[in-house]
Amino acid sequence: MNTNNIRTIKGGGSLQGIIKVPGDKSISHRSLIIGSIAEGETDIEGFLYSDDPLSTANCLRKLGVYIPEIKKDQPFTINGLGIKGFKEPKEILDCGNSGTTMRLLMGLLAGQEGKNFILTGDDSLNERPMGRVGKPLSMMGGKIFGRDYGKKAPISINGNKLKGCVIGTPVASAQVKSAILLAGLTADGTTSVIEPASSRDHTERMLKAFGAEIDIRGELGRNIVIKSGKKLIGQKILIPGDISSAAFWMIAASIVPESCITIKNVGLNPTRTGILDVMDEMGCQYKITEKSTIAGEPIGSINVKSANNLRPFKVEGNILPKLIDEIPILTVAACFCNGVSEIKDAKELRVKETDRLKVMARQLRKFGANILEKEDGLIITGDSKFHSAEVDSETDHRVSMSLAIASLIAKGSSKIARADASKVSYPTFWDDLEKLIN
Ligand code: S3P
Repeated sequence: MNTNNIRTIKGGGSLQGIIKVPGDKSISHRSLIIGSIAEGETDIEGFLYSDDPLSTANCLRKLGVYIPEIKKDQPFTINGLGIKGFKEPKEILDCGNSGTTMRLLMGLLAGQEGKNFILTGDDSLNERPMGRVGKPLSMMGGKIFGRDYGKKAPISINGNKLKGCVIGTPVASAQVKSAILLAGLTADGTTSVIEPASSRDHTERMLKAFGAEIDIRGELGRNIVIKSGKKLIGQKILIPGDISSAAFWMIAASIVPESCITIKNVGLNPTRTGILDVMDEMGCQYKITEKSTIAGEPIGSINVKSANNLRPFKVEGNILPKLIDEIPILTVAACFCNGVSEIKDAKELRVKETDRLKVMARQLRKFGANILEKEDGLIITGDSKFHSAEVDSETDHRVSMSLAIASLIAKGSSKIARADASKVSYPTFWDDLEKLIN
């Protein structure tokens, strides 16, 4: 076992307390990106101080955007350059582990005429599919090149004149949709994206708030139309807590006996709350209070208590994009339901930071879980009795945190290798866990 960053977790306790999870990762990236192409100042509060959004900040600085040193829990102000104000950077733009940084920047930079850019990432990011963004951008006139015939990073972009067009994307991905919408801001005329199922809509909400001409059409809002030419004006953005980080505590409180956790200020955007539907199906005991809206995004506090006899669940079809990042922790949950749960239509999980279907099955089996891996999902037989194990995040932040919750249910002490992967989205996860353990 890798001896770096090992965390030891003792099973058997319960979890109690009130916490506030860090800011939403998707909204944090977008606050910087959209703020950087707006005119004037954008004030940002609640920003997620973690590796992924900080990669976005570093790339934008290299493009000439003024972003002050970002400090944890401190609001800050950035100065936008307007839609065509980026400079050609002398250095390569390093997106680290962050798919959102790379894909959204591809869209943002494709239409920066006469300027050239090179984007790269870490070993994991450079193996993830980028053709899904490069291809539609090329249809708009983008000149995007990359390893493996443009499918993988490093990516090079020769900024070019773009034309608006109608693009149907085969994958329901907010990163792909957002890249096309950002490119649409620099394209001639109107750009229309049609996605096979609704993905998170933070880009649309934020662009609208900044003054973009954006229209949501079609069945369940799957067609988004953006017209170029409107000036974006800097705004005040208050970022809610990330429901994908809250999800670890929502499931932990449900499955760890005698637990009760309240998570404050959680973003409840309906394109992100698929996990609540699954918790309803499982029969989890939760209440949502203190509901309000901040910066166009619904928020609330979630109180979750442990529940007995949790029912198995099935996840498939259009709900997938609404809980795409919660599949690892839902796999843990399924191990403690009364019966067989199924996750289907989840091939996308294979191209996340790791192949999350394979990695979750491989790691949870070490605790004694009964999981069958299918091409597009998992079949999990519940009622597991977990024994202690030595497991490994395999460098994936959401796997690391899911395994921490699994360890709480295991008899004895378990060890998680490469546990610090969690800092990509939730740097204070281990402190919060310590606070909640009784
Ligand atoms: C994200 C979209 C999702 C999600 C990722 C963040 C975003 O990815 O898994 O963590 O901020 O747009 P896909 O768009 O690839 O589904």
